[in-house]
Amino acid sequence: MNFPQTIKERRTIRRFNTTPVAPELVVSLMNNAASLYEAEGTPRWRCLFAGTPESRHRLVESMMAKMKESRFVKLMPTKMIDFFIKRVTDIPAHLIFIAESASDRRHSDENYAAVCSVMQNFQLLGWEHGLGALWDTDPMFQSESFLAEIGLQEGERFAGILHIGYFDKAPRARRRTPAEQKWTAIGEGGKADGLQSERVRISAQSILEVLNDAVWAPNDGLREPWRFIYVTGSEAAAKLSDSSGNASSAFLLIVAKQDADPHKQEEDYAAVCCLIQNVQLLVKSRPWYVRRSIPNWIYDRDQCKPFGILSEERIVALLELGENDRSPHSEPSPPPLLNITHL
Ligand SMILES: Cc1cc2nc3c(=O)[nH]c(=O)nc-3n(C[C@H](O)[C@H](O)[C@H](O)COP(=O)(O)O)c2cc1C
Repeated sequence: MNFPQTIKERRTIRRFNTTPVAPELVVSLMNNAASLYEAEGTPRWRCLFAGTPESRHRLVESMMAKMKESRFVKLMPTKMIDFFIKRVTDIPAHLIFIAESASDRRHSDENYAAVCSVMQNFQLLGWEHGLGALWDTDPMFQSESFLAEIGLQEGERFAGILHIGYFDKAPRARRRTPAEQKWTAIGEGGKADGLQSERVRISAQSILEVLNDAVWAPNDGLREPWRFIYVTGSEAAAKLSDSSGNASSAFLLIVAKQDADPHKQEEDYAAVCCLIQNVQLLVKSRPWYVRRSIPNWIYDRDQCKPFGILSEERIVALLELGENDRSPHSEPSPPPLLNITHL
């Protein structure tokens, strides 16, 4: 797969045609999507597939149950409601993603980040097969009827739906902010330095090239809720590198803006996970390695301060980048356990 091209060309599709989507293709894409996710830990999540007319109808009914109770919808002409129902039931297939919650924030984040990354992988792999997707997190999915339909258990978190299908026309691309405008460099002794560093093999310039492709991640409302902190120099980088860290690695902190609205906050976190996933895929076409982690210290505000993290921000992941010949020793990840069931 040509990751740089697909990442830039993928668009959110909101209008599908009626060509059926083969369940075997969805399962095979899901397997590939899960295997492309590489990070520390063993994330726990599951996925439901609604591809038959009956399951799609049940899904729409469960979505509509809460809507129908609203005063606004009660005032709507029946024709309009039927039109909405038809638009959703006509979508050939839906994938529903659920992350497990854990007793600590870090593991919950790991599970949620994995789901979001797999959703992005699926969108990209699907795009290569002419399949479009709409990532949907409408608040109506928080209704009891919907959560009961998908069998959400205690300790589970609904992450989002991908509506999928073939399409006749892709919408035009909407511009992204250049990564340079969202970039801060922290150099030797914590001072900001320029775009080049002698100590790291991978220059800031080439990381920026990767980021300028990665910013084509889906993100709701085009809020582009990310920024990048490039850490070089022995003193600053030593804080980030664990025992397996490499002296010539470059460290990149990927930071998310935290909206006051919890729903937007969650969507923004998901968007940043998609961007990080893009970086991981883009690095595959370079002679580099990347190690993605969620270190414990990011949950301690005091430890985030030296990196200039603002109160309305959070670090989503630490990326360690280097050249292949100096790859840090890390345990190979176990094969992903794909848990996909039919609704
Ligand atoms: C977490 C997340 C939630 C989203 N939720 C919605 C949604 O509820 N409705 C919608 O129309 N688009 C949704 N989107 C898609 C974005 O609106 C879309 O990515 C953005 O407009 C940029 O367009 P592009 O994906 O074509 O680059 C969501 C995307 C993400 C990552």
